[in-house]
Amino acid sequence: MPYPQTRMRRLRASARLRGLVRETELRCGQLVLPLFVSETQQAHAREPIATMPGVERLSLAAAVEEAGEAAALGLAAVMLFGLPAEKDARGSGAWDEHGVVQLAVRAIKQAVPELLVITDVCLCEYTEHGHCGVLAGDGATPTVDNDASVELLARTAVSHARAGADVVAPSDMMDGRVGAIREELDGEGFADTPILAYSAKFASAFYGPFREAADSTPAFGDRRSYQMDPANGREAVREALLDVQEGADMVMVKPALAYGDLIAAVKRATDLPVAAYNVSGEYAMVKAAAAAGCLDERSTVLEILTSLRRAGADTVITYHAKDAARWLAQERG
Ligand code: PBG
Repeated sequence: MPYPQTRMRRLRASARLRGLVRETELRCGQLVLPLFVSETQQAHAREPIATMPGVERLSLAAAVEEAGEAAALGLAAVMLFGLPAEKDARGSGAWDEHGVVQLAVRAIKQAVPELLVITDVCLCEYTEHGHCGVLAGDGATPTVDNDASVELLARTAVSHARAGADVVAPSDMMDGRVGAIREELDGEGFADTPILAYSAKFASAFYGPFREAADSTPAFGDRRSYQMDPANGREAVREALLDVQEGADMVMVKPALAYGDLIAAVKRATDLPVAAYNVSGEYAMVKAAAAAGCLDERSTVLEILTSLRRAGADTVITYHAKDAARWLAQERG
């Protein structure tokens, strides 16, 4: 029965009615706040990141403060990215027991034990050349060596688990790294540490501000030989299913805003929890538009985060997490 018997507006007449039939809920316990922890920042220092207003490079002590704030706001977790004082060809700072992420995990778990700490597992912040793995080949045409990188990534994940990480999240896009990390974790006594796999991670222009923040822009070439082609959707599902076979506990689609179709497709294809990463460029766009008076920041952010949940994300990783938690608390208020 179409109009006039059917009137879609009946259930939109009041806030209570709309609330009664709302399909998607956004809770702060589903949000993860990424943090940049810098080895070169002293004491309680924080250094602003120009392209990401409100996001800072944090000293260890400042990262602990930020984690405390995240926990107080009811956020689920922080996700740590390390900015080491020194880089080398192999990215050895990534698996250093006294590396910046390992120190930060220990300090945060000690100060705020109830907050989950997820660690990003990758080499790009630690290699001189800025690629996500180690290089092979002669100087003229280097390539990223998959299998050699996988071994180092597994070592990195174990060092994070040993420091107390609740979840490890490989973002490198090497083949077979989820299986190798699972095997290594199990062998080292970390059978209960979950893996959040960056399964469908695209070679995206939306990572620009992150690379400035983390000083991880590749010194030559780009990441298209390991990150996915933004044109490929079926391949994203295949990547996710492979990670499921290799033992992933959660899978991720990244970026988020231009990839809602793939969040939905991956959700349909697996029984695993799905995470969406609302990345740095997506954050920067909203902040810039809001600062220019083009958008209302609060309603825009809540609409974006809700849309990612509607697409199928169980968990959303977002630089807006603290603001969103405050706004959600006011709404409930
Ligand atoms: C590291 C990594 C990147 C991001 C998360 N992990 C950068 C990249 O792949 O170049 C991007 C996150 C963001 O843009 O917010 N491999």
